[in-house]
Amino acid sequence: MMASCLNEPGKTWAFWRRLVSSAEVTDGKKLRLGVLASGKGSNLRALAEACASGEIAAEIGLVLCDLEDAGALDVARGAGLPHRFIAPGRFRTKLDDEAESAYIAALREAGVDLILLTGFMRILKGEFLRAFENRVVNIHPSLLPSFPGLEAWKQALDHGVKVTGCTIHFVDQGIDTGRILAQRAVEVLDDDTASSLYARIQEAEHALYPSTVARIARGEISFG
Ligand code: GRF
Repeated sequence: MMASCLNEPGKTWAFWRRLVSSAEVTDGKKLRLGVLASGKGSNLRALAEACASGEIAAEIGLVLCDLEDAGALDVARGAGLPHRFIAPGRFRTKLDDEAESAYIAALREAGVDLILLTGFMRILKGEFLRAFENRVVNIHPSLLPSFPGLEAWKQALDHGVKVTGCTIHFVDQGIDTGRILAQRAVEVLDDDTASSLYARIQEAEHALYPSTVARIARGEISFG
C-alpha cells in the first residue's frame, strides 16, 4: 500500500513526487494526511471540508492533539475523523522523548504521508523531523520571515505594518524558518484591533491551507 511504503525510512520526496504523479495515486489510493493541533481547529475544519469536497485529493488519516480539551478534537469528532489526545509529557514548549516517540508511532501506524501543523503549540525537533523528513508543513499567521513566533498579528499591529497575512512553509529545525510554499496578504486597516486583524488573517488561512495542500497532492510542489 502506498502509505506504508512511503513511511519506510529512506523514501525521499523525490520518490513520493514520482508516486503522486503516477497512476498508482490517480487510481484511487489517496494521499494520507496527519494533522497536529492544539487550538480550536478552524484550519482542521477547512482542511477536512476540502478533503470531503474533493478540492484536496487526500484523506485525513489521523488528528493528534496535545491538549485534552482542544476544540480540534471536537472538530475531528464532528467530521468523523480518527483522532487522539496524546499527553505531551513534562515540558511546556516541546514534546518529551517518550511523547515524541508516541506521536511518531501513532502517525506511522495511521500510514500518513504528510503532516500538517495547524496551531500545534509544541516545537518539533530532532527525532520527529528525522522520522518525517521534508514531510511536515506549518501555517503561520504572518508573511514570513516577518514576525515569527507567538501572536504574529499583534507583532504586525505593534510594528504598524500596512500589510500582513499568512504563510505555509515546511518545518525545519528553526522557528518558522522552513522553505515557504505559499503566502496570502491581508491589509491592516486603520481601525484594526488585534482580534479583528487576526479574524481576517484566519479567513485567509482557511483558503490558503487547503489550496496549498491540494497543490501538494497534485504533485505541483517540489520538495528538493
Ligand atoms: C492559526 O492561526 C495558525 O496560523 C497558527 O495557529 C492558529 C490555529 O488556529 N499557527 P486553529 O486552531 O486552526 O483555529
